[in-house]
Amino acid sequence: MTKSRQLEGRSWLVTGASRGIGREICLDLARRGASLELVARDEQALEETAAACRAHEVSATTHPTDLAKPRQRDALILKLTRERGQALHGLVNNAGFSQHGDFAELNESAIREMIAVNLLAPTLLARALLPAMVAAGEGHLMDVASMSGWMPVPRESIYAATKAFLVSHDQSLAEELRDTGVRVTCVAPGLTETDFFARANLDLDSYDLRGFPQGSARDVARAAVEGALAGRRRVIPGFRNRILAFGLRHAPRSWTRRLARRVNARNAGAPES
Ligand SMILES: NC(=O)c1ccc[n+]([C@@H]2O[C@H](COP(=O)([O-])OP(=O)(O)OC[C@H]3O[C@@H](n4cnc5c(N)ncnc54)[C@H](OP(=O)(O)O)[C@@H]3O)[C@@H](O)[C@H]2O)c1
Repeated sequence: MTKSRQLEGRSWLVTGASRGIGREICLDLARRGASLELVARDEQALEETAAACRAHEVSATTHPTDLAKPRQRDALILKLTRERGQALHGLVNNAGFSQHGDFAELNESAIREMIAVNLLAPTLLARALLPAMVAAGEGHLMDVASMSGWMPVPRESIYAATKAFLVSHDQSLAEELRDTGVRVTCVAPGLTETDFFARANLDLDSYDLRGFPQGSARDVARAAVEGALAGRRRVIPGFRNRILAFGLRHAPRSWTRRLARRVNARNAGAPES
């Protein structure tokens, strides 16, 4: 088997497969020969991703599901655990969104939905699908977190906290599973060109993003899949993002706070330092 078709005969499930980074992850996996199980709400967009995957001569099955709705999420989990004859080779928890706004004014349903989609769904999917991978002695869990998980992000506090949860959960899980053959990869993209910001009702021009490079969804997807297949525990796509991430994780908290204030100054009228 050529290296480019190294996932021939393997099945991967990708959430948030209808657009953006998730769609590109599906296509990258399909190019490597993986069969795909695709999850998102938008049936038409999901079917378009599936058709693009099938062009690479792999099978692609769609599971239109709103992961914010407990009944739909639980029905998906039941279907995946009861009906599948064999373990998935990979689970990619990529679906996620943010509702931009002052915490004190966020409506309760937006808070519940962010926690449900960004945090609870990945955790419950992993809990349901990992045992079969462990029994098979191989597999990949990939969570798409964010660099937001390492810094204060005013007006995105719930979103950033859900991503910080994934960063923490994955480092514990990777250690817990170290001798099982199952690899855990936490992907922390920086700013990426997708519909994410428009859908979050967030105008990037109202931020001072000097020093924050913007990457393409395709490059993020490639780095994520290559990192996962190489068994890397953490993937930060893009060289400049890796430098920034190093600063965010190792500089004094006062530096991180100042950076967050500078980024938000135009919104908050806050002083730059
Ligand atoms: N773009 C960035 O700058 C950036 C940076 C760091 C991290 N990330 C993370 O990357 C991941 C992908 O984001 P993206 O940039 O590709 O954004 P995107 O283009 O808005 O895609 C988000 C995906 O999540 C799915 N999704 C959202 N709510 C869902 C729900 N209730 N149920 C099921 N699926 C749902 C969407 O599908 P439907 O709408 O069809 O349901 C879509 O496929 C997210 O976890 C995001 O937090 C993005």
